[in-house]
Amino acid sequence: MSSGMEEMASQIDDLQKKAESDAQSAGSLEALQAVQAAFIGRGGALNEILRGIGKMPAEQRGQVGQMANQAKKTLEERFALRRKELEAAAGQAEQSKVAQYDPTIPARREAVGSLHPVTIVQRQIEEVFSRLGFIVVTGPEMESEYYNFEALNIPPMHPARDMQDTFWLGNGKLLRTHTSPVQVRAMEKYGAPLRVIAPGRCFRYETIDASHENTFFQLEGLLIDRNISIANLIAVMKLLLTEVFQREVEVRLRPGFFPFVEPGFELDMRCEICGGAGCPTCKHSGWVEVLPCGMVHPNVLKYGGIDTDVYTGFAFGLGLTRLAMMKYGVRDIRVLNSGDLRGIIAAEKLTGPTIVNGSRP
Ligand code: PHE
Repeated sequence: MSSGMEEMASQIDDLQKKAESDAQSAGSLEALQAVQAAFIGRGGALNEILRGIGKMPAEQRGQVGQMANQAKKTLEERFALRRKELEAAAGQAEQSKVAQYDPTIPARREAVGSLHPVTIVQRQIEEVFSRLGFIVVTGPEMESEYYNFEALNIPPMHPARDMQDTFWLGNGKLLRTHTSPVQVRAMEKYGAPLRVIAPGRCFRYETIDASHENTFFQLEGLLIDRNISIANLIAVMKLLLTEVFQREVEVRLRPGFFPFVEPGFELDMRCEICGGAGCPTCKHSGWVEVLPCGMVHPNVLKYGGIDTDVYTGFAFGLGLTRLAMMKYGVRDIRVLNSGDLRGIIAAEKLTGPTIVNGSRP
């Protein structure tokens, strides 16, 4: 290598080193841009050197040109690498700016309202029973004496009518005392086999207290098919409560009298308000009647036009309002018919138990 060449080579080498170290110490994309322009830009130092090539002997020019190009290529790669680093660092800085906001501060709650607790439970049960092949039907709130009592095996002078006193209307009809009239209506309409549930509002002439209202919701269920037994009834009742409470709940079954079932049961669940210790909501018994049920009385099947030699069935009259109270820890049924449910709705958007009128013991 001639001395001119050597000088050239070391110049290029020095330049490359300087460029690399400048690029490394460039703290921003703009600074890097400037370094790049200074070294490999059009008017940059590398071009400056190359301009000197003209003064060199012709046979050396090619080699020097090659060295210069190599240096340029290397530097371009270095600059690109450094650019990536700086970009990444900029991204992190942006993120740490975001992190200065405390994401754990609760957002301002939008006042959007909520479904009524009874509606939530109703829909949940509809969903469960739809899966089991039940259809959801409704019946009139203003009902005839025939469907509310007679077709349910409760003749005019039957004492059961006293237990379900109601509001009699001027047109001879009444406000239904339960959803059971829908049983016979559904049998008439659809025949057997049959799987229906019928949620709806019911009315009774009641003395009102923490667990009694003149207006409340029930959800009737009726299944008619061949070979239906009490075992089927209990299995479905347990499934229902497990689904609503998302865990096994403690229940007890005891005989209960309803003229339209035989045998008839009261299915009680442990009071969720007091955990069984006794409170006004469970009338200090520790148990709450939520699921009166039984095997459909043959007379009722006959009223519905069902062949009792072929079919049997079970029915239940779930206390929807009461179940919602248990699920959400509502101590007083009157809250649910009031216009202000904020006490219930505010807490956990009705996802977990909510305490109204006091705390859970
Ligand atoms: N209809 C009854 C009531 O309201 C409940 C019930 C329904 C009982 C179906 C048995 C079967 O008291």
